[in-house]
Amino acid sequence: MAETAGETLLEVNNIEVIYNHVILVLKGVSLKVARGGITALLGGNGAGKTTTLKAISNLLQSERGEVTKGTILYEGERVQHLDPAALVRRGVIQVMEGRHCFAHLTVEENLRTGAYTRRDGRTAIEADLEMVYGYFPRLKERRRSQAGYTSGGEQQMCAIGRALMSRPKTVLLDEPSMGLAPQLVEQIFEIVRAVNENEGVSFLLAEQNTNVALRYAHQGYILESGRVVMEGSAAALRENDDVKEFYLGMSEEGRRSFRDVRSYRRRKRWLS
Ligand SMILES: Nc1ncnc2c1ncn2[C@@H]1O[C@H](COP(=O)(O)OP(=O)(O)OP(=O)(O)O)[C@@H](O)[C@H]1O
Ligand SMILES: [Mg+2]
Repeated sequence: MAETAGETLLEVNNIEVIYNHVILVLKGVSLKVARGGITALLGGNGAGKTTTLKAISNLLQSERGEVTKGTILYEGERVQHLDPAALVRRGVIQVMEGRHCFAHLTVEENLRTGAYTRRDGRTAIEADLEMVYGYFPRLKERRRSQAGYTSGGEQQMCAIGRALMSRPKTVLLDEPSMGLAPQLVEQIFEIVRAVNENEGVSFLLAEQNTNVALRYAHQGYILESGRVVMEGSAAALRENDDVKEFYLGMSEEGRRSFRDVRSYRRRKRWLS
C-alpha cells in the first residue's frame, strides 16, 4: 500500500441535504474515508446512503436535491462546486445503484466508455482494459455480448469495471450486492478487496447487507433516518451487540422484547 495509506482522503462535514426545497433527508452527516481503505456506509431502506454518495459526487442536482449545509473535502479541498466530470478527472467516480450499463452496447464498449475523461492515450487505455479483464475474467468471456442481455452479476461487474477504466483513486460504490445471489455477492466483494489491495483504490461502499460489508470493509458508519448513529472500525462494529441484533440478525439472549427495542430507540436518539 502507498506510504500515505490511512490519511483522510475524503471528508464529509455535517452535511444537510434537502430534496425539492422541502424534504430534509440528511440531517448533519459527517464521515471520513481513509486513503487506501474500504469504508462502509450502512443502513436500511431510505436511510440516506445513496443521497450521501450523490452529494459527494455532485449528482443531486438532477434529482432536485441540494446540499444546504456543511462541507465536502477531497484531498483537503472543497469540491462542492465541481461537476461530476471534473470530479472524475480528480479521481472520484460513482458506481450507481442498480448497475447502470448501456444496454445496447457490448460489454467491451461499456468498459471503453469509462475511459472518456482520460487524456493519456490508447496504449494506457488498452492496458487498463486488460487490467479490468484480469479482475473480471467473466467480462472477458462476455466482451462481445450486448450488456442488456448479460446476467445481473455480469452487469454489476461491468459497472464496476467501467468505473475502473477511469483510473479512479476513489470509487463510491452504491449497493453492489443488490439483487444478487450470495455467492456472487461474495465474488464481487473479493474483487473489490483485490482492487483495493493491488491498485490502492479507496472505496466508499453503501450497503444494506451489513454482514458482507463489515467483513470486507475496514471502517463503517451506520446511517438511520439521515443521521450517523454509529461508527467505528469494521471489527468493532461486528462485535457491537446492537449491530449484531439490529443489523446482523443475531442476539445473545434470543429475541428481545419490544420494550427493549424501545429503550434502544431512546438510546439511539440520545446518541444522535
Ligand atoms: N429525488 C428525491 N426526491 C425526494 N426524496 C427523495 C429523493 N431521493 C431520495 N429521497 C428520499 O430520501 C430518503 C433517503 O433515500 P436514499 O435513496 O438516500 O436512501 P438509501 O439509504 O440509499 O436507501 P436504499 O437502501 O433503499 O437504497 C428516502 O426517504 C427517500 O424517499
Ligand atoms: Mg440507496
